[in-house]
Amino acid sequence: MTSAPPRPLIVGVAGASGSIIARGLIDALLERQKPVIVVASNAARMVWQEELEESYSATVARWTENPHFSTYAIADLFAPIASGTFPTAGMIIAPASMNTVASLAHGLTPNLLLRAADVTLKERRPLTLIPRETPLHAIHLENLLTLSRLGATILPPEPPFYLKPLDIDGLVRFVVQRALVASGVTEGLPDDMQYRDHER
Ligand SMILES: Cc1cc2nc3c(=O)[nH]c(=O)nc-3n(C[C@H](O)[C@H](O)[C@H](O)COP(=O)(O)O)c2cc1C
Repeated sequence: MTSAPPRPLIVGVAGASGSIIARGLIDALLERQKPVIVVASNAARMVWQEELEESYSATVARWTENPHFSTYAIADLFAPIASGTFPTAGMIIAPASMNTVASLAHGLTPNLLLRAADVTLKERRPLTLIPRETPLHAIHLENLLTLSRLGATILPPEPPFYLKPLDIDGLVRFVVQRALVASGVTEGLPDDMQYRDHER
């Protein structure tokens, strides 16, 4: 009897600041030979160009060489991940803009990222959001609460101030590891990311 192939994890990239987190997350999944399906919003591509020193298309061209990577266009509502019948291991939205958070909290699915996230919720598969905005107003918070109550993990990219020294790369590594744990890809954080009381 042959075993079923591993289910892919969907990574949705929305147009919030923090493209570096999406890039680090997808790199980490591919390093683990985890099948990953990526969908990025139009705003995400703009922010990517602004924040990273490569275009989104150039990064995708690099990933496309990896057999575990696939991607669909944001408008492709015929993509397999638009249907609950397509088995996946869940989804991470990294980073999640407040626009995407609001749409998802209200069941609005005008693009493939939102449709795939809505499917993930309705099929009760793991959904992790890395929302990025500051400060947050009451509507942001209410939308995040709605999604938390629906079972999503809300994982803001908060620095682990207790891990010293900490730079942006350290923060990205930490948030990526937390997202991998939240979505069941890995079981626990590496030793150097765990809080150690006796080292204070
Ligand atoms: C450079 C840049 C940075 C942005 N940063 C954020 C942010 O941190 N959080 C956020 O909610 N929106 C941010 N936005 C605004 C979103 O991109 C905008 O609301 C967009 O409509 C989101 O679309 P999407 O949810 O389909 O990705 C940013 C926009 C730009 C151009």
